[in-house]
Amino acid sequence: MSDKKIIFSGIQPSGKITLGNYLGALSNWVELQDEYQNYYCIVDMHAITVPQIPKDLRENTLLLLSQYIASGIDPNKSTIFIQSHVPQHVELSWVLQSMTYMGELGRMTQYKDKSAKGGENLNSALFTYPVLMASDILLYSTDLVPVGEDQKQHLELSRDLAQRFNNRYSDTFKIPEVYTPKVGARVMSLQDPSKKMSKSDENENGYISLMDSNDVIIKKVKRAVTDSVGIVNYSDEQPGIKNLLDICSKFEKVSPQDLALRYQGKGYGEFKSDAAEIIAQGLRPVREKANEYMNDKAYLEEIYSQGAQKAEEVASKMLSKVYKKIGFIPKKRI
Ligand code: TYM
Repeated sequence: MSDKKIIFSGIQPSGKITLGNYLGALSNWVELQDEYQNYYCIVDMHAITVPQIPKDLRENTLLLLSQYIASGIDPNKSTIFIQSHVPQHVELSWVLQSMTYMGELGRMTQYKDKSAKGGENLNSALFTYPVLMASDILLYSTDLVPVGEDQKQHLELSRDLAQRFNNRYSDTFKIPEVYTPKVGARVMSLQDPSKKMSKSDENENGYISLMDSNDVIIKKVKRAVTDSVGIVNYSDEQPGIKNLLDICSKFEKVSPQDLALRYQGKGYGEFKSDAAEIIAQGLRPVREKANEYMNDKAYLEEIYSQGAQKAEEVASKMLSKVYKKIGFIPKKRI
């Protein structure tokens, strides 16, 4: 048994992931990887809370796995697996749902946003989904959950549920901490910097996909909405410029304030063209490697099969403990 602390995190394969997912989550996982014992999950069960085309879901799941590895998640250091391969996630989720209040779920801003958009797609899983997320985390005695800003509220719920269970049935779950990066926790849309960058944005120019070609990335960055101030400052008054500075500072590993200083006396044109280049070059290796892995399905299969086996060993022990504590009769093999 390793005495390293435990990380759990996941991304939904509901489409092609964006620069926001990369900077807010994936790139930080890579940095934390050596210090922790890691579980990185492809949360396909979460993805079906909005309708998915089966063929696309299969493709996006394998692509996300390829992108995890291409970004530097090392299968020898981290357990990488597909959520639907480990049934204990859903089983624990049922138990936790029986202890979750409707009011708590109704207060989740992601649910409120999605339900405000309305439509026929409002299903009950969209409502209960934060409980499945809590199960993901709690099954592995997770210490730390590296996510973007938008997941913080869900993390609070996970902590509350863990505490509630522990109080009711005795100490069982570890109370997880959230980790958000200093820069990049909330990458904004390139077309509307008051909104977060999202793969479900109707306007394709609002987000950069990790699989966009260099030309597409450059075009999108050059079209990014800015302002009429005309000076490159790191300021809340200039959210479009601030967003680009934040993004570039992650790739350049300098503070966004220092980066802004490089553009004193220069216009937006020069800044945007450099920004476009920095992002395009920063993502190129991930895209190229991910494409290579996509051509090696046998390798991908080996990784997700081994990952599921390791994850299930841990998850099944925790679930048995939970079932016993709540009064379910243990199954006897005959
Ligand atoms: P998802 O798939 O929407 O996003 C995956 C990760 O990317 C982060 N992220 C962003 N970060 C910065 N700027 C953005 N514009 C941006 N957009 C997305 C998210 O914060 C997230 O870290 N419920 C989760 C997936 C999940 C999970 C878990 C995460 C399921 N179970 C257990 C952690 C632990 C979700 O929908 O993320």
